[in-house]
Amino acid sequence: MNACIRAVVRAALARDLDIIGIRRGYTGLIAGDTVPLDRTAIRNVIHLGGTILETSRSPDFYTRDGRLRAAASIERMGLDGLILIGGEGTFQGASLLAADADTAALVGVPGSIDNDIYGTDYCIGFDTAANCAVDAIDRIRDTARSHERLFFIEVMGRESGYLALEGGIAGGAEELVIPEEEVSVTQMSERIRGGFSIGKRSAIVVVAEGETPGISFHLADEVKKHLDLDSRVVVLGHLQRGGPPTLRDRVLGSLLGVTAVEALLDGRSGCMVGEVRGELAYTPLEETWQKKKPLDEDLRRVFTILSD
Ligand code: F6P
Repeated sequence: MNACIRAVVRAALARDLDIIGIRRGYTGLIAGDTVPLDRTAIRNVIHLGGTILETSRSPDFYTRDGRLRAAASIERMGLDGLILIGGEGTFQGASLLAADADTAALVGVPGSIDNDIYGTDYCIGFDTAANCAVDAIDRIRDTARSHERLFFIEVMGRESGYLALEGGIAGGAEELVIPEEEVSVTQMSERIRGGFSIGKRSAIVVVAEGETPGISFHLADEVKKHLDLDSRVVVLGHLQRGGPPTLRDRVLGSLLGVTAVEALLDGRSGCMVGEVRGELAYTPLEETWQKKKPLDEDLRRVFTILSD
């Protein structure tokens, strides 16, 4: 996200626009909690994880009263345009704000390690989180192979299996558990047994945490009832949400940050900038959270073939 903030600031300054940063998301917007964003503020941040502006979940913004206070704050600050980096919740909030008040132009930029936002192939943060997952799988594979063990590696992804799917393909995992699909412990156990019967000595199951972080411990117990195999569970959790962003995330953040400023200058509002099949795409904010981004079926097929 910092690469994106940096790009927004530099693109804005290049066009002689005044720009400020809102601290802590919608909480800061309601409170008028701002920081000056000049060239100094965004110096040496492109390699930092997290966000220099900080973020929060804002219960107030869920209420009409909260959103009207945000609109009043926008008016007080004299803002003509707002660039919002976030996911489903951020864009739903922005749509409600636009419905409640005649306010500044709103342009969204997709940021989510879950990569679950409709209107873009990739979201800022996904690539870094996915690389973290692959790195973990690679490391755990050393123990799995050496100790002939079954491992359950749990990655994030509340409603989306993208992290698990791409991490699983890149890490050469045997099994995938994702929120988009029903899991059959019996079938999974049989497939793992089949792998061992043809000479495998270890296996890795990549699990998306879904609604229940820690679900892998339960899965491991259930599989144990079918297979006489020593297994271990590793939950990556918030490890995936930090650390230096990858090249792809820095480039995507930079591209979408500049594009967001250009979108505002072109008079766009109520849309999210994204990238679809290598082209810039502008999607109405409502669609970004009302439509479900489908899992990539080609990648799902590839996983099935390669994990056999
Ligand atoms: O929505 C992004 C996400 O990282 C999910 O993958 C994960 O399930 C959730 O956020 C974790 O949220 P929190 O940081 O509030 O525990």
